[in-house]
Amino acid sequence: MANIIFRRALVGDYPEIIALHRQNLFSNLSEQERQNGFLSIDFKDNSQLAAINEDVAVIVAVQENTVVGYVCATSQEYSQQIPLLKYMMSLYPETMFQRQPLSNYRSFSYGPVCVADAYRGTGILQGLFQALLAQIPTSYNAGVCFLAKDNPRSLRAHTQKLGMEILRDFEFKGKSYFLLGFPVPPLPHS
Ligand SMILES: CC(C)(COP(=O)(O)OP(=O)(O)OC[C@H]1O[C@@H](n2cnc3c(N)ncnc32)[C@H](O)[C@@H]1OP(=O)(O)O)[C@@H](O)C(=O)NCCC(=O)NCCS
Repeated sequence: MANIIFRRALVGDYPEIIALHRQNLFSNLSEQERQNGFLSIDFKDNSQLAAINEDVAVIVAVQENTVVGYVCATSQEYSQQIPLLKYMMSLYPETMFQRQPLSNYRSFSYGPVCVADAYRGTGILQGLFQALLAQIPTSYNAGVCFLAKDNPRSLRAHTQKLGMEILRDFEFKGKSYFLLGFPVPPLPHS
């Protein structure tokens, strides 16, 4: 996809990120649309994005001044306020990653991530990931994310395209999720 810029989000991007995010919330999609992925947790407002961007990072993919994708990353401290992430982090001591419990790593939470419908399958996800990794402080040595089990598109993209590893599954509020991990910096993969 030509002329896509990947960069740190600016204040003016937040309303567009929220609009793209809300279009892709589970509750706002038809059963058929959900086959191409969906998001589970809404953003509160622009100030939440500002806080996430300040905490670790918000990265956008922009084409002709329009946000066509974004990815967020948050610290474990910040993530405590999101119940699903809080529960996920409580599993780290019993979740193995490369022969060590996840709790032994200095990890951040990857997500949410979204690519606008018309831009899927064009490599934007990889571009967002590379731009995010370039912004991650060197104090981190792992990234962790969750995916709804009934989001096979996202699962395939994150395991096959970004090389993330499924570490376990878990249930939260009656829904099933996979927990994925990746080393920072990531290992080369084919
Ligand atoms: C998830 C998302 C970021 C992935 O980005 P993307 O550009 O769509 O990813 P890609 O198209 O490069 O990769 C998806 C892969 O899944 C495949 N796929 C598509 N639909 C699928 C399905 N229903 N089941 C299994 N695989 C599927 C695609 O064919 C592709 O694999 P291939 O390139 O080997 O053929 C994007 O689809 C998205 O934003 N979806 C809506 C929001 C979302 O789900 N966010 C993630 C929440 S965890």
